[in-house]
Amino acid sequence: MEKVDSKLLKEKALEEIKKANSPEELGEVFNKYLGKQGELINVLRSLADLNKEEKVRIGMEANEVKDILRMEFEKKEKELKEEKKRESEEKEWLDVTIPGKKPKAGHLHPLTLVRWKIEEIFKGMGFSVADGPEVETDFYNFEALNIPKDHPARDMWDTLWIKAPASAKASAGKQQSKLLLRTHTSPVQIRYMENNKPPLRIIIPGRIFRKEATDASHDFQFHHVEGLMVGKDISVANFKGIMQEFFSSFFGKQTDLRLRPSYFPFTEPSFEIDITCVVCGGKGCSVCKEAGWLEMMGCGMVHPNVYKNSGLKEKGLTGFAFGMGWDRLTMMMYKINEIRLLQSGDLRFLSQF
Ligand code: PHE
Repeated sequence: MEKVDSKLLKEKALEEIKKANSPEELGEVFNKYLGKQGELINVLRSLADLNKEEKVRIGMEANEVKDILRMEFEKKEKELKEEKKRESEEKEWLDVTIPGKKPKAGHLHPLTLVRWKIEEIFKGMGFSVADGPEVETDFYNFEALNIPKDHPARDMWDTLWIKAPASAKASAGKQQSKLLLRTHTSPVQIRYMENNKPPLRIIIPGRIFRKEATDASHDFQFHHVEGLMVGKDISVANFKGIMQEFFSSFFGKQTDLRLRPSYFPFTEPSFEIDITCVVCGGKGCSVCKEAGWLEMMGCGMVHPNVYKNSGLKEKGLTGFAFGMGWDRLTMMMYKINEIRLLQSGDLRFLSQF
């Protein structure tokens, strides 16, 4: 009877070991037969009730079965482990010959490329590059530039005012007056002349802000490069020569310019500069609206009050200043017909440069 039990038990166990599909299942089968409460242990425990001869025989048989089952368990365990390893290797298989994914490299924004180009040309003519704050005071943005509080010229600039925190107001002197987002780069003229003595030759590229309704050629945030040259005997002729050289270098071809009378409170006389249309060369086309000329910038000879307001007392100073929209130059350079694209952050646009 016991002999049949051991043998049956062995067959049953071997069958279940064979069927086990995972280490967990195999563990259960092991516990069922060889565990502390396992069936084989029960057989060994029942030996106590048998006579000596049977004890020896059945005990030997049971031990034999135990050894065989242990071996089978180990074999199966190894098999399952190998199978698992193979499966995960298949899943994680890596084709080392596939070309790698190139990380996308960024590049400079077209506005930056054009700013660098402008700086390079002016540096070549002895100008240095200066900088100033984007949040300005009423004093630097208007008053020091000869635009007093009630002057109608203020209407030319739709202004974004900033509510100054109480702490700023407390320490406000005349020059810490009302805060605004600068409407032009001209305030840096004053800031620079307060700290530097002529002769001066600088350009000031920077971002400016106006309360504009936007369209394809207007944005509320755009870029100007200010120019300022101050010294003795600096004339409109010097100015014209420098600008002609600038535009010809920038567009890589002879570009003529003309001055038209204009008005700015901080220059006298004031002009607008037009250049020959870079598309048609002056013959007339849709870009220049058949005029043959493109309007490029406001400029003029620095007004004496500007020197005075900057604290420059030297007699006989003359000089010119200009403010040129460099978004416009970027658009001309790359044939872009929508200014708002420049600050859209749209990769479909940006990745073209
Ligand atoms: N700041 C003027 C503007 O924003 C341009 C300008 C600069 C005109 C310097 C004259 C001299 O339109």
